[in-house]
Amino acid sequence: MKFVAIVGSLRAGSLNRAVALSAADLCDPGVELTVFEGLAGLPFFEHDVEVVAPPAPVLAFRAQLAAADAVLITCPEYAAGMSGVLKNGLEWIVGGGELVDKPVAVVTASPATTGGERARAWTTETLRMMGADVLPESMSIPVAGSKIKGGRVADEGLRAQLRGVLAAMARSAKEKAELAAAEG
Ligand SMILES: Cc1cc2nc3c(=O)[nH]c(=O)nc-3n(C[C@H](O)[C@H](O)[C@H](O)COP(=O)(O)O)c2cc1C
Repeated sequence: MKFVAIVGSLRAGSLNRAVALSAADLCDPGVELTVFEGLAGLPFFEHDVEVVAPPAPVLAFRAQLAAADAVLITCPEYAAGMSGVLKNGLEWIVGGGELVDKPVAVVTASPATTGGERARAWTTETLRMMGADVLPESMSIPVAGSKIKGGRVADEGLRAQLRGVLAAMARSAKEKAELAAAEG
């Protein structure tokens, strides 16, 4: 099974990247999670360009998502919303439809006690508009700096919660594959 993680922060010491990298470490055998590192390489979304010929980095992003059985989005909250780089990336895949009916878990990590839950709510609304199947196991991580050390999630409770998110992604992906097979 293939999972892709999209990290909505470009910061070197990003808490949200640490969550995605830890998720990759915590996957069960038989599941491979690849962290997509190309958000900064996507041009600003421009519909005129999209309809003529989407640029190569966009095509690569779309292909990676199309091949994924489930997607994990980890994102900071900036000014009460999702980061601009994530929103820009999502705009490029509205037209491609790569997230339609795809299981997507949204995780926000913030040093604040709210855990970035407003960014999660906004990201969830955007993803649902795009037809994604946003999983209820999505979660926000409050006071994230105290649970992440050396670029990985150190807190055992949080690691267990992340395993739960990954299990939900696998379960949903398996159900969808079985349904597709039954429908021929
Ligand atoms: C411009 C800016 C706006 C921010 N706005 C919020 C916010 O609205 N809510 C919040 O919880 N944290 C906010 N933060 C703090 C971020 O959650 C924090 O910098 C976090 O570590 C960023 O995620 P990252 O570690 O993955 O890069 C803001 C930070 C910056 C630089």
